[in-house]
Formats: sequence, structure tokens, C-alpha cells
Amino acid sequence: MITWILIFIIAFTRFTTSQNGLGYKTPPMGWNPYNAFHYNINETLIKQHADIIAKQGYLDVGFRYINLDDGWQASARTADNKLSPDSSKFPSGIKDLADYMHKNGLLLGIYSDAGTQTCGGFPGSLDHEDTDAQTFVDWDVDYLKYANCNEQGKPEQEHNGNALNSATAGKNKTIFYNICEWGTSDSWLWGPDVGGNSWRTTADIIAFWPSIISIINSEVRLTEYGNSRRGWNDPDVLVLGFDRIPYEEQVTHYAFWAAMKAPLILGSDLTKVTDEAKKLILNKDIISVNQDPLGLSVCQVYYRTDNKSSFDIWTGPLNDGYVAILFNRGIEPISITLDFKEHCHLNGSIEVYDLVKQQPYGDYTNNYTAVNIPEHGVEFIKLIGGNRIDDDRPCLNYS
Ligand SMILES: *[C@@H]1O[C@H](CO)[C@@H](O)[C@H](O)[C@H]1NC(C)=O
Ligand SMILES: *[C@@H]1O[C@H](CO)[C@@H](O)[C@H](O)[C@H]1NC(C)=O
Ligand SMILES: *[C@@H]1O[C@H](CO)[C@@H](O)[C@H](O)[C@H]1NC(C)=O
Ligand SMILES: *[C@@H]1O[C@H](CO)[C@@H](O)[C@H](O)[C@H]1NC(C)=O
Ligand SMILES: *[C@@H]1O[C@H](CO)[C@@H](O)[C@H](O)[C@H]1NC(C)=O
Repeated sequence: MITWILIFIIAFTRFTTSQNGLGYKTPPMGWNPYNAFHYNINETLIKQHADIIAKQGYLDVGFRYINLDDGWQASARTADNKLSPDSSKFPSGIKDLADYMHKNGLLLGIYSDAGTQTCGGFPGSLDHEDTDAQTFVDWDVDYLKYANCNEQGKPEQEHNGNALNSATAGKNKTIFYNICEWGTSDSWLWGPDVGGNSWRTTADIIAFWPSIISIINSEVRLTEYGNSRRGWNDPDVLVLGFDRIPYEEQVTHYAFWAAMKAPLILGSDLTKVTDEAKKLILNKDIISVNQDPLGLSVCQVYYRTDNKSSFDIWTGPLNDGYVAILFNRGIEPISITLDFKEHCHLNGSIEVYDLVKQQPYGDYTNNYTAVNIPEHGVEFIKLIGGNRIDDDRPCLNYS
């Protein structure tokens, strides 16, 4: 009896600390200016991008959060210790910006640092978390990226989850809480317990292949931690649309982020995205894998490393099928065979659908071979039909 009461108390405590996180059943989608503009942001730029998101097809497929990143703040707090925007960059204030987003069917995200004093020339929040949470509620913002400011290993984010919960309690308001300690203190383990809805798993992404592949490699052992019951692993923004990244590498990047259930936050200057990249970004089949109601990440089920053909296979269940990434890590085109039984625990007759080209390939039994997968490229496919052989998943074990 005592044990059951204790279990109930523990369960209830956890429930209340993660209260702010309830209601986010799929990863957030949106835009963040940092990778394209760094600290050089302002009201005009943000509204211009909000207009592009709202009116040029992005909102229609689910992109909705317009997130401010570092650089929006004034360099000091107000006399009553509140955060305030740099008034030369955001003369109308943040509440006005949030209203603008909401009028256009969008949501506004904001950024804050957990540093004790100043971080990058801006005020830290650790001593003011309750005040700041109230400010964010007063401004009606919808998303908070809370960075650790290099105070590695300290549990600032824990206090902040409570601060957000208190500030939103009893109000018709939730604030999506993104913990950003760059994976330095294993936030995927404790993120859900402190009210986090997503947690950065890696250092900042850079718009080139070595950064993308190094992030994919570091996610290999984390895929079980990001899902709709806990919250999402955040491998940082999408660097789609940066023209220095070859198209096939952009496809690989997008396929992995979508299938790992990463937040899909675009990081490019949307005025400069090519038609080809925009078509990729707006691909509804890729997005529907990310927004799948089952909310489970793919995992790595096979890899092979040698000089001629290095490749990976990642698979995972969807609400209405299965998804697979056949990934050519190497530098010449190769074929990869997906064995339904071994790599997906499926049998029977299975329809294979190419999520990138958006075309069906017909029905297969036992296996499917993708031919001529380009260097650093993927074939990203959905499997429809067939039977689950068992409820286990064939994930490689990294624990
Ligand atoms: C706003 O920011 C953009 C991007 O950094 C810059 O090009 C533009 O000149 C800025 N506009 C104003 C009014 O400061
Ligand atoms: C709660 O907020 C949402 C989103 O802003 C709004 O659509 C809804 O009408 C509000 N509900 C109440 C009861 O005020
Ligand atoms: C791969 O290439 C390196 C350098 O050329 C060589 O030393 C190594 O033996 C090769 N490995 C395999 C598995 O062929
Ligand atoms: C699929 O696997 C299940 C479970 O092992 C088995 O009962 C069934 O007969 C198999 N179906 C086919 C078409 O192989
Ligand atoms: C793929 O399945 C077919 C039968 O559907 C079989 O003949 C073939 O040997 C299999 N290939 C591989 C590589 O497993």
C-alpha cells in the first residue's frame, strides 16, 4: 500500500513538473534566423520571414514557429530586472511581434541564456527565471530556446521548467520548452523530467557535409530517447537551402531529421532558397513521416564500412506503415538491399513508395533493392502493407 502511494506521488510529481510539455504530440516546425543571420536580426527581417512562411506555402505544410535567436535582447536588464528587446532592432516590442504572428496563424519563439550574469554581451537568466518566465507569458510567446551559455553540467534548466510551469499555470497558455546545452550533460536523459519538450543533442550545426554527417553519427545511440511520450531529440536546425550543400546531401539531411522526429526548424535565408530546395522543403510525404502520430524515431539496423561501399540502413514504424532510409555514406553510387524480415521484422507483400520522388515502386516480397544511390545520398522509402512478425525492433544495440 505504502509502495503504491509512493509510486503515485512520484508519478504525480513527474506529471506536474512536465505539465508544460503536455499537448505537443508531434515535433515543432518553423524557422530560426541564427544560421543565416547570427545576431543581425530585427523586426523587419523577422516579419519578412513570417510573411514568407505564412504566404508562400510553408505554413500550409506545417511550418509555424518563427523563432528569435540570440541578438534580440538589449544589453542590460530594465530597472526592475526584466529582459527587454534591443529597441533599435525591435522598436515595436516583442508582444507586438507575437500579435503579428498570431494574426497570421503563426507562433513566436524566443531565446534566452541560463548564464548567471551575461552571456555573449546579453543578460543571463539564472537569477531571474521566474521574472523572465512571466515576461514571456506577458509577451504571449509560444516557444523558448533556453541555452546553457557554457556553464556545462549545471542543472539551470531544471529551475526554468518550474518557472515556465508556474507562469503558465491556470492560463490558457503553453510555452514549448527547448533545452539547449548542446548535449554536454546528457539532456536526453533528464529533459522530460524538468518539463523539456525538446533538447539539443549536439553542438551547433554548420551548413556543410562534415557537420551533417557528424550529427547523424552522434544520433545513432540516442534514437530511443526522442518520441511523442518524452519529447524530441533536437539535432539543431535544418540547413536546407544553403546552396553550398549539394542537393543529394540536403535530401539525406532532411530524410534523417524527418525520420528521427527532430524539430523541423528551417535555418536558411528564405529569400534565397532555390526552387529545387523549396520543393524539397515543402515535400508533404517527408513531412508526414516527421509528423506521424505514432511519434517514434527510426534507428540504425545495419551498417557496413569499407572503402568501396560504406552504407547504413535505418528503419522504424509509422502509424500506417514503416519507413526506411538506405544511406550511401561513400563517394560512389551503390545499390542497397533492404531485407524486410531482417531490417524491419516485416513479411508478406509490401508496397514500396519513394518519399522524396513521391512515386510508388510497386509490390515486393522479402526484399527491395535501391539501385544507384548517389554519393552521400539516400533512398528514403515508405513500406505499406505486409505483417509485423513480432513487436520487437531490429535496432542495433549501443547501450
Ligand atoms: C535587418 O536585418 C537584415 C539582415 O541582417 C539587414 O539586411 C537589414 O538591413 C536590417 N534592417 C534594419 C532596418 O535594420
Ligand atoms: C486558448 O488559446 C487558443 C490559442 O490561442 C485559442 O484558440 C482558444 O480559443 C483559447 N481558449 C480559451 C478557452 O480561451
Ligand atoms: C581502405 O583504404 C586504406 C587506405 O587506402 C587501406 O589502408 C585499407 O586497408 C583499406 N581498407 C579496406 C577494408 O579495404
Ligand atoms: C509472417 O510471419 C508470421 C509470424 O512469424 C507468420 O505467422 C506468417 O505466416 C508469416 N507470413 C508470411 C506471408 O510469410
Ligand atoms: C530478394 O528476394 C527474392 C525473392 O523475392 C530472392 O529471390 C532474392 O534472393 C532476394 N535477394 C536478396 C539479396 O536477399
